[in-house]
Formats: sequence, C-alpha cells, structure tokens
Amino acid sequence: MKHLVAVSITEYELDEIRTLIERRSGILFDASRERFFSTRIREHMAAKHLANGTDLLRKLHASTVEYDAMVERLLTQETSFFRYPAVFEAFQRKVLPELHMKKFWENPRSLRIWSAGCATGEEPYSIAISVADALMFSEAWNVEILATDISKNALKNAQQGAYHRRSLGHISPRQLDAYFSASGNEHVIKPRIRRMVSFAPMNLAQAVYLGRLDCIFCMNVMIYFSEARRNSLIQHFYEYLEPGGYLFLGHSESVSNVPVKFESVVCGDCILYRKPAGEMIYRGAALVEGAL
Ligand SMILES: C[S@@+](CC[C@H](N)C(=O)[O-])C[C@H]1O[C@@H](n2cnc3c(N)ncnc32)[C@H](O)[C@@H]1O
Repeated sequence: MKHLVAVSITEYELDEIRTLIERRSGILFDASRERFFSTRIREHMAAKHLANGTDLLRKLHASTVEYDAMVERLLTQETSFFRYPAVFEAFQRKVLPELHMKKFWENPRSLRIWSAGCATGEEPYSIAISVADALMFSEAWNVEILATDISKNALKNAQQGAYHRRSLGHISPRQLDAYFSASGNEHVIKPRIRRMVSFAPMNLAQAVYLGRLDCIFCMNVMIYFSEARRNSLIQHFYEYLEPGGYLFLGHSESVSNVPVKFESVVCGDCILYRKPAGEMIYRGAALVEGAL
C-alpha cells in the first residue's frame, strides 16, 4: 500500500509562499486560483515528505533548487501548435512580408524572434514553420528564434522536439510531411526547423536583454502576473523591439494601461501590437526607414 504523508500548512504559511512566488517569479495566485494553489502545495509537501509548512518554508528559503521544484508543480503549460491560427496567419501574411521588404537589401538578412514563455516548444516551432513556409529562400536568411521559459522540465521536452499525433492539431498534412519525421508513435521536428530555434531557461520576472528583436511572442504568460509586473514587462518588450517590430499577445491580453505607444494593428480576428517605425518610404522592393 502507498504510504500517505499527512501534511499540515496554515493560511499564513500559504500566504508567505504566495508572496515569495510573486516576488521571485512574477506569478500571482489570487483568490480565483486558491484551490489549485493549496492542493498543489500539499501534493508537493507529500511528495517531498514534508509534514508541515514550516519545514517547507525553511527549504524554500535555503535552496533555489527546492524553490524551482515547487514552482514547476504550479506552472500551467497548456499549449499547442498554431494555437491561435488567426495569429499565425497574420504573422505569415502581414508581418513576415513586411519584414521581408524592410530587410530586402540587408546582407546578411537576419530575423530575430523571441518566444517568451515557450512551454514545451509548440509555439517557437510554429513560428519556425511559418517562417519556412512564408519566406522565399528562407535558407538565405539568418533566422534566430530564441525560446525561453522558467520551466526546465518543459524546456527539456521542447529541445527533444518529439510530439504525439494528437498534439499536432493545426499542423496540415503537407507541413507534417515537410517538417516532421515519424519515429515510432511520435513525430520529430526535422533539423531544418530545429536549427532555427535556441532554447534557454529564463524567468520573465528577471528578464535580461537579448539584443534587438523583430518580433516578440508572449502569449498566455502574463495573464498570471500582477498588473504592475505585466506593465513593466511590456515596457521592456517595447524597448527590445526594433522600430516596426511586433508584439504578439494571447487573446485575453492587451497593452492597454501601459504608457508605451504601440500601434494596434487589427488583422482579421486578432490584434497585433507594432512599435512605430517612424517615416517610411518604399524604394522598389525595399522599405527604407527614416529616409525622408
Ligand atoms: C500557458 S503556457 C503558454 C505557452 C505558449 N506561450 C502558448 O501560448 O501556447 C505559459 C508558460 O509560461 C511559463 N511561465 C510562467 N511564469 C513564467 C516566468 N516568470 N518566466 C518565464 N516563463 C514563465 C510557464 O512555465 C508556461 O510554460
């Protein structure tokens, strides 16, 4: 019979853990997620054979490894390929052609995209597949997709790039054939797509500058952050984007109430946020910024 550990933790101790998580990782467990939070904490204590909240708090304060292990249990990693098809359609039909025009004369032609909160990799690989599908001669581009997440477990799966058929919902038969190889029950991302993506752990509550970016995808991550934390992160995203660069957020997220001047670009069913590019004129196939 499985040995059950009786655990006890007070409301005060749960509150202390909530505060610690908000401070270190930005994630807010408010009243709407109270049950989820306390159940997961109790499960974690049982798994770690910790009988009371004092022991748990002592471990959390003494070791970042212990803290990370507990946070892993509290993360929501729901994701899928081409999760919002309308967003990826706008990316392929509007954003990539615009960037193509803008960078037409650059040598080498580079494209830098950040998937912030990439979970198990479906989002950055969808970005890479979109680039391969939309950019003519995509091999001639220097494409860099930086994919980061706080969860080391999620990143381990992402790096393997192996997915069951059922999680490939929005992948078309043509894309499956072109960008995946079958391996037993799984479909593995082909090297051509895999090479475009670099994975690294990063806590967005302590985000570091990754250099200038053409696009940032941060979808369904900041919904769990406090308003102050969300606003500060959006401000950083604005600074990190190239003029004319785009920010992609989840359906229920927006940049309203943030004192930065993104332009809202409505594309079909979705809204994209564009950093103003200044004055632009087209010269032949090229888009030249600030030329007037
Ligand atoms: C719901 S998933 C979204 C995945 C993907 N962006 C999408 O929309 O399908 C949220 C992801 O954010 C990550 N996350 C949560 N807090 C984070 C933080 N402070 N720093 C970095 N990643 C974080 C989680 O580990 C999880 O993988």
